[in-house]
Amino acid sequence: MSGDEGEGATRALLVELAASLFARGFSVGSAGNISVRLADGYLITPTNSSLGRLEAARISRLDPEFRHLDGDKPSKEVFMHRAFYRARPEARAVVHLHSPMATAIACLADADPDNPIPPLTPYFVMRIGSRLPLVPYFRPGDPAMEPAILAAAAGARAVLLANHGPVVSAASLRDAVYAAEELEEAAKLALLLRGAPARTLTPAQVEDLRKTFG
Ligand code: 13P
Repeated sequence: MSGDEGEGATRALLVELAASLFARGFSVGSAGNISVRLADGYLITPTNSSLGRLEAARISRLDPEFRHLDGDKPSKEVFMHRAFYRARPEARAVVHLHSPMATAIACLADADPDNPIPPLTPYFVMRIGSRLPLVPYFRPGDPAMEPAILAAAAGARAVLLANHGPVVSAASLRDAVYAAEELEEAAKLALLLRGAPARTLTPAQVEDLRKTFG
């Protein structure tokens, strides 16, 4: 996607989508980071930047080995994005947020590490898939997180970082943002229904979505 649109258009889209996420409270302060794969490297949001006020020309550019080329100093979580791109060859964008509902679930002491958000709605399954591993807690920016994410992302398009927030990948920047939005919505529903006898999608319904929508 990014290669087809050209780097200038990709930068502009990144600024627009990040601002939209920020405006709706999906990230606050300088939380969150977003990356996009280009034909010859990556763009990633600068460290300590607000997703609400990115400047296209200052977005960090990385080479194919994730070394900083130009733009502001990159996110301290480059390794987290790198783990997703290495684990998932189809990934062309990665979105990490501290969105409150998903982060609340990532803080639950009784969260199921294999399935912290149940398959309640089709769009959650269509955008995130049938697996959402909960990765144990690491300090933000701790490179020790990389092998844990690499292992978890090999079998899942998205992960929840315990006590931290969601990380989502997809085949385009727009799709990664849509997936992050669906994940937050599913987390909200899971919290609304906590303790209620909710009906989740059956394994057959989940499989039907997987076969139909990939
Ligand atoms: P950066 O500002 O370095 O991207 O880190 C933000 C963040 O969300 C840490 O988890």
